[in-house]
Amino acid sequence: MACEIDPVKAEGFAGSLVEMINQGAMSIMISIGHQTGLFDVMAGMEPSTSKEIADQSGLHERYVREWLNAMVVGKIVFVDDSSTYYHLPMEHAMFLSRKFPGDNIALFAQYIPVIAGVEQKVIHCFKNGGGIPYSEYVRFHEVMAEDSGQTIIGALFDHILTLIPGITQRLEKGISVLDVGCGSGRALIQLGERFPNSVFLGIDLCKEPIEKARKSTEEKGLQNVFFHQADLTSFRPDVEFDLITAFDAIHDQARPDLVLKTIYDCLKDNGVFLMQDIDASEKVYNNLDHPFGRLLYSISTMHCTSVSLAQGGMGLGTMWGTERANRMMRQAGFNNVTENRLPHDPMNCYFVVSKNCTNTQASLIELEEIDD
Ligand SMILES: C[S@@+](CC[C@H](N)C(=O)[O-])C[C@H]1O[C@@H](n2cnc3c(N)ncnc32)[C@H](O)[C@@H]1O
Repeated sequence: MACEIDPVKAEGFAGSLVEMINQGAMSIMISIGHQTGLFDVMAGMEPSTSKEIADQSGLHERYVREWLNAMVVGKIVFVDDSSTYYHLPMEHAMFLSRKFPGDNIALFAQYIPVIAGVEQKVIHCFKNGGGIPYSEYVRFHEVMAEDSGQTIIGALFDHILTLIPGITQRLEKGISVLDVGCGSGRALIQLGERFPNSVFLGIDLCKEPIEKARKSTEEKGLQNVFFHQADLTSFRPDVEFDLITAFDAIHDQARPDLVLKTIYDCLKDNGVFLMQDIDASEKVYNNLDHPFGRLLYSISTMHCTSVSLAQGGMGLGTMWGTERANRMMRQAGFNNVTENRLPHDPMNCYFVVSKNCTNTQASLIELEEIDD
């Protein structure tokens, strides 16, 4: 079959491919700048030599210089025409340095080396099926905790809890809270500190984040926050909860359907379920212009789909879609799910649903209970 090639289209595509590879390489350099503290040192620093920057960072000059040159051609760092003095402008530093908490985009670059670390194992799965367990991902839980530290912790009281009318007053009075797939437990620990009359339980499959969460709880001397290592697929608590949360934790479960059913079953009447999960469509065509589409489908291929399949799970993937999330919550028994979008977190949707009644009814009941 003769096929005509449009040389302009072909050249344009080749150029965009080269650009993708260039940008992929920059992600790793940004991740290194974040982990080594180079961005933190350079934020607010006068134009400086590679030696001065290396000395201030406590790093080896030869590596720092090569990294700086990558930053320069990546248009992140500027250099003078003698190629001697490097400068990170403040308009860039504010998204790269820890000196600007809440706005750090550099931390997300760390996901690229995390997933690249299992590339060969993923290729093996392409050929043989199966999945990759959490334990194979170097630094996954650490990066995840840093990610949710920014998207959840910084916004928990002022933006996230306010999505549930009356919940702050109920937490002050004293209720029971479960966080599923709690990871390193930072959200629960923050809640436990703020609401000493309430009791908090976090469940996660993995030993490493649960141990970290327990250590932080002990260090803070919290008596009302508990962590338990368990597989949510079979976990059936013998108590009921007033509030259940799931932060970025449902789509990569082995059996999200069973976990949602468990959540429904162990939620008290008029209890509330808050689920933060990826804001995307289940149909890839609808995600063509998704601002994080390339990143999220890649993380899905390399991590979320794979960790679920490794547990013999459904492998829904990161981009399971808000349509499917709604369907699965309805199948679990929930009605009247509301979807909320928060400006600080453009990657996620915040689903809020009360058990057995509409959200409006639930809010009224909660407020009446508080008035009593
Ligand atoms: C994307 S991480 C989110 C962690 C945490 N909620 C946060 O926001 O930092 C998903 C979490 O779900 C946990 N998880 C996955 N499958 C699980 C299962 N079958 N049972 C319990 N936890 C599971 C993982 O160990 C991981 O910590």
